[in-house]
Amino acid sequence: MEYLIKQYPLESGALEIQYIEEFFGEFPRRKTAAEVVGRLADRESLILMAESALPDDPSTRIPVAYKVVHELRAVEADPKLRDLVERLRGCIDFDGRKVLYSWIGATRRDWRGQGHFRALTEQSEAWAVALGFQEVVVKTKNKFYDMRAVLAQLGFDVVKFERHASGPGESKVYLSKQLLPDLVAGHRSRRTVVHAGG
Ligand SMILES: CC(C)(COP(=O)(O)OP(=O)(O)OC[C@H]1O[C@@H](n2cnc3c(N)ncnc32)[C@H](O)[C@@H]1OP(=O)(O)O)[C@@H](O)C(=O)NCCC(=O)NCCS
Repeated sequence: MEYLIKQYPLESGALEIQYIEEFFGEFPRRKTAAEVVGRLADRESLILMAESALPDDPSTRIPVAYKVVHELRAVEADPKLRDLVERLRGCIDFDGRKVLYSWIGATRRDWRGQGHFRALTEQSEAWAVALGFQEVVVKTKNKFYDMRAVLAQLGFDVVKFERHASGPGESKVYLSKQLLPDLVAGHRSRRTVVHAGG
């Protein structure tokens, strides 16, 4: 299978993210376009969407999965990112290194298990390696079993577990993956990447 991936510029990509997040009932707080722009405006970032044909109308392609990654600096002004960097201290080496944060991403339910998220992840890794990023970090909750299984399958290692007072499900799991130059040669997905207009 060849995956079709669209890479978006910031403004139109943020609107696409807001739109596709409407399909994910399991996310308690969906991202707005303004939130996406606010987070990404001043940093290296990548907005990707995988498109697939509708089963009953193969001539119509729709976005079925997405992934947003961005640079994470040792010193952050944004309170949420500053807090994240603080929590990662001692687990992730920021010193003189380019660290990427895998912020948000998902696949629509009917299209899960078809490799779209692997394709998006591999494309983001290829982009990151080309830009000199050395490590990618991601955060999830213990209760997101699908995501944890998928991250393991994609080669992420747990670097920190943060217990939550309300129970094990809400506990946070931090994972990372080294972006070594030979990583890209081992990628498995065949992808066509197109750049969406602004
Ligand atoms: C996690 C998620 C993004 C995976 O997307 P997907 O497009 O179905 O993933 P893929 O088909 O690309 O699968 C990637 C790999 O994980 C494996 N995988 C997929 N779903 C899995 C599952 N539920 N359990 C175990 N492995 C799984 C696949 O076999 C594949 O491995 P392989 O390429 O080595 O065969 C999707 O299930 C999802 O959106 N879940 C809800 C999002 C969520 O939990 N968000 C919480 C916030 S972090």
